[in-house]
Amino acid sequence: MKFRKVVSVVGAGNVGEHTASLLALRGLVDVRMFDLPRKDGERLIEPVKGKALDIQQMLSALNIEGKVEGYTVTPEGEGYEALKGSDIVVITAGFPRRPGMSREDLLDRNISILSVIAGKIREYAPEAIVIVVTNPVDLMTYAVYRILGFERNRVMGMAGVLDSARFKTFISKETRISPMDIHAYVIGGHGDEMVPLISISNVGGIPLKDMLPRERIQELIKRTQFGGGEIVDLMGTSAYHAPAASIVEMVEAIVTDNKRILPCSVYLEGEVARYYEAESICVGVPVKLGNNGVEEIIKIPMIEEEREMWKRSVTSVKKNLTFVEELLNARSAL
Ligand code: LAC
Repeated sequence: MKFRKVVSVVGAGNVGEHTASLLALRGLVDVRMFDLPRKDGERLIEPVKGKALDIQQMLSALNIEGKVEGYTVTPEGEGYEALKGSDIVVITAGFPRRPGMSREDLLDRNISILSVIAGKIREYAPEAIVIVVTNPVDLMTYAVYRILGFERNRVMGMAGVLDSARFKTFISKETRISPMDIHAYVIGGHGDEMVPLISISNVGGIPLKDMLPRERIQELIKRTQFGGGEIVDLMGTSAYHAPAASIVEMVEAIVTDNKRILPCSVYLEGEVARYYEAESICVGVPVKLGNNGVEEIIKIPMIEEEREMWKRSVTSVKKNLTFVEELLNARSAL
């Protein structure tokens, strides 16, 4: 009999590794990590097994219960049997964009990787809830949703929690008030045109627009929109602490069934799609998370200015979706 929920993390790079570590530290779930082997000179090594062992030993040092296991897999999809029994699968695998690589190259390569992984999830964990983290996240969530063929409540992308955490950090620094008392949502695509919602953001219940001058708020919005880039410029690589924490927040909402409202990238159709004027795409909106994954998509009110920003964000997600669609169709025609 299984007592604890199992969360599998596919891809043990910076984000995957920190996600596994934080999940384990929370002590709520057992964690399984999956990644490719790596060449170390002549030798083939298995970093994912080492990382899992290291995290397991960290739990012993801290007297925290939990099982952490690492599995080496191949690019062709061998080694994924241990996905069996996963309640949640987090996908962080994929290429980061390298110099000289076009966005299309990146999309093409990441869709190839995610197709293999999605195929294995379908085979071994057909009941799992899937959280996609690989960038460009709205497009990758869409691709995974299409390949998996799961109900839409079981597939979601992580971005809005991270973007909102960044926004809250900047508001907190500016107002010198704890982020715990700041409510702020960032919705839309996870790109430069993401939409921080000012009209409903508040600090201890007081509307943000009554707390700070408009120009300052605009500066905070800009900083949030380029929040990922700010860190890449400083570190030379993408952020991973806050992204991992954001994933953990979503996982926790699902496994504890706490019904939190968190912005996630989800597939829109029907009435909500009409409300958001965004049919059949994945994009960040506030959703209620619980045991069943996305239990409700919230129709958040937007003032006219925000709706204009929202439409621009949706348009920019859609622009690249056509290419994703072509890649997916080419794939299924094979
Ligand atoms: C960021 C990357 C992970 O926003 O998308 O930091």
